[in-house]
Amino acid sequence: MKKVLLAEADIPERWYNILPDLPEPPSPYLHPATLQPLGPADLAPIFPQAIIAQEVSQDRWIEIPEQVREVYRIWRPSPLYRADRLEKALDTPARIYFKYEGGSPAGSHKPNTAVAQAYYNAQEGVKRLTTETGAGQWGSALALAGSFFGLEVTVYMVRVSYEQKPYRRVLMETWGATVHRSPTDLTNSGRSVLARDPDSPGSLGIAISEAVEDAATREDSKYSLGSVVNHVLLHQTVIGIEAKKQMEMAGEYPDVVIGCVGGGSNYAGLSYPFMADKLSGARPGTRFIAAEPAACPTLTRGIYAYDFGDTAGVGPVVQMHTLGHNFVPDPIHAGGLRYHGDAPSLCVLVRRGLMEARAYAQNECFAEAVRFARSEGFLPAPEPSHALRAVAEEAAAAREAGDSRVILFGMCGHGHFDMSAYEAFLAGRLEDLELPQPRIDEAVKELPKTPVA
Ligand SMILES: Cc1ncc(COP(=O)(O)O)c(C=O)c1O
Repeated sequence: MKKVLLAEADIPERWYNILPDLPEPPSPYLHPATLQPLGPADLAPIFPQAIIAQEVSQDRWIEIPEQVREVYRIWRPSPLYRADRLEKALDTPARIYFKYEGGSPAGSHKPNTAVAQAYYNAQEGVKRLTTETGAGQWGSALALAGSFFGLEVTVYMVRVSYEQKPYRRVLMETWGATVHRSPTDLTNSGRSVLARDPDSPGSLGIAISEAVEDAATREDSKYSLGSVVNHVLLHQTVIGIEAKKQMEMAGEYPDVVIGCVGGGSNYAGLSYPFMADKLSGARPGTRFIAAEPAACPTLTRGIYAYDFGDTAGVGPVVQMHTLGHNFVPDPIHAGGLRYHGDAPSLCVLVRRGLMEARAYAQNECFAEAVRFARSEGFLPAPEPSHALRAVAEEAAAAREAGDSRVILFGMCGHGHFDMSAYEAFLAGRLEDLELPQPRIDEAVKELPKTPVA
């Protein structure tokens, strides 16, 4: 069997919330000005009430509104594939499966939460959403979702991606969004970055500051985030809930679950429904591997501390693995993995040893992306090529150990807008820059001095 398909009726009716099952709760968010714990009222200028309630909910299961499932039907349930041709290419006895999220109209997992967020905002009378985007995947997803629910969408796009991926901008504009190259001179946050460095390549942290400031200073607007926070990870669990059912239909349960991590949403979405079984003791032996870029190694080299989620310090302060909110990663092609922090729940799992993290340089990842394209056909986005690198390591380990472990990984997006990156790789022009420790040490010096450690 090559792929396992579910019926429309199998689209999950509830999202899985891992918060009540975590071995310790993530620390509360802090207010950026007072550094005291945030209350729901503090979040009201930027998020609608339903999202704020989900962010702190202790309910294990949260119902998916029918209007959201209605839109999910366009591309969900997504297929689960047996990567038997990749297994041969890797010469491994491991059995490899992947969940493919590249079939959504925007080309990645991001619409799973964009649609939910647009729905809740529209329900509460919001007219306009602002957001940031790195690779352009998230911005495209929100532009798409905005068009379904009649919302205006403004996207601050990280300059390096804006220049590397002009067609992502056109895609967002086609769905009706307005796209700005960040840093801009439209916000205080953008202007202050440009004053320091007129050639700043931008970063997700800077773009978030701009989008939050824009939303917080306009009555008709709210802000929408594509990763990191609890409600985004929650919405993405449709991936893992479906995958669990599909693995069951294939008569399998994964020994190892792998995904790439930028802020953590696609990987949490795939892995948390399986992590639930590890946390409950039903499947204690399952291993979890989070793959991140060596150029932005938050989980493997960041420190665990409270930090601003954005560069200008206008959004919530979060305890997480961080490289410092002023850290600007080298302009690798996996733009969606260039965030300085990670989802708090994922950090708890890594700290507790329930999840492992590995970092990879971009050339070794692109080599696996090309191997995947030549064996399975699909062209991966640069982000999930990091997951592929970890899969290749596990496949080699299975060969050496002579076992046929079951590997499940997330193929969270296609790379059709990343051809310049493939071109550079194929021509041998991709660079793997070292990240010297002093650069990290320097950036983490600027963490906020929080009263709560
Ligand atoms: C295709 C793709 N994968 C992964 C990511 C990283 O985000 P996250 O870790 O939240 O899934 C992005 C972010 O833009 C993305 O576009």
